[in-house]
Amino acid sequence: MDNEQIQVIDLIIETHIGLERQDPGSHEMTAKALSFLDTRSISRAADLGCGTASQMIILADSLHGSIVGLDQIPGFIDILNANALKRGLQDRVSGIVGSMENLPFQKGEFDLIWSEGAIDAIGFEKGLTHWNSFLKMNGYVAVACPCWFTDEHPDEVERFWSDAGSGLDTIEHNISAMQRAGYAPIAVFTLPEQCWTDNYFAPRAETEKVLLSKYAGNKTAEAYV
Ligand SMILES: C[S@@+](CC[C@H](N)C(=O)[O-])C[C@H]1O[C@@H](n2cnc3c(N)ncnc32)[C@H](O)[C@@H]1O
Repeated sequence: MDNEQIQVIDLIIETHIGLERQDPGSHEMTAKALSFLDTRSISRAADLGCGTASQMIILADSLHGSIVGLDQIPGFIDILNANALKRGLQDRVSGIVGSMENLPFQKGEFDLIWSEGAIDAIGFEKGLTHWNSFLKMNGYVAVACPCWFTDEHPDEVERFWSDAGSGLDTIEHNISAMQRAGYAPIAVFTLPEQCWTDNYFAPRAETEKVLLSKYAGNKTAEAYV
């Protein structure tokens, strides 16, 4: 690609496509979230905004049914499908390209909708409201989402999230939003700091160093990093 013409979205994809995960989290926290569910009742699940779906292996190990991952970026879905094939999971696990805002599924199709670090891209309440009709009666939704821990935040941090297109709210606000969207909350917990630092920012910083040298002198790449 021409260095001068590179777009931020290409840089975001290039940064994240080789990472194990595209957002903060860990296998332990995925397993912890699963521990609150009656997994025996789950025969069909979706992972929305799945990225390359590092959590898919744990989901596939813990659930007996089929799981479909959905993401808007074809390169991420290709990796998910290749990994499913490599692990012999292709009959139960598949990925499709699509929009979380306009789901290409049947109403009432899922026992579980899973989504780590993606719903803030479309709005927490808006996303949950749209997704609700795709759940069976007594189905579950499990979402991880960046939240404010306090009511007051430094302007710089607020600007960072707003520039990233994420409207953040407090945990309490999101619990109320979840109830307004028709759900009864079962459990809420926060991620340990290493989920952000060791598991996401550190590997991401390494790939950004590579980008900086690959696109040396490119203003878009420098501003992005
Ligand atoms: C921060 S990443 C999280 C990826 C993955 N869930 C994980 O835990 O590593 C957010 C993902 O949501 C996807 N995404 C954002 N907006 C979307 C939309 N409107 N429809 C489908 N996918 C979307 C992005 O492409 C990206 O892969």
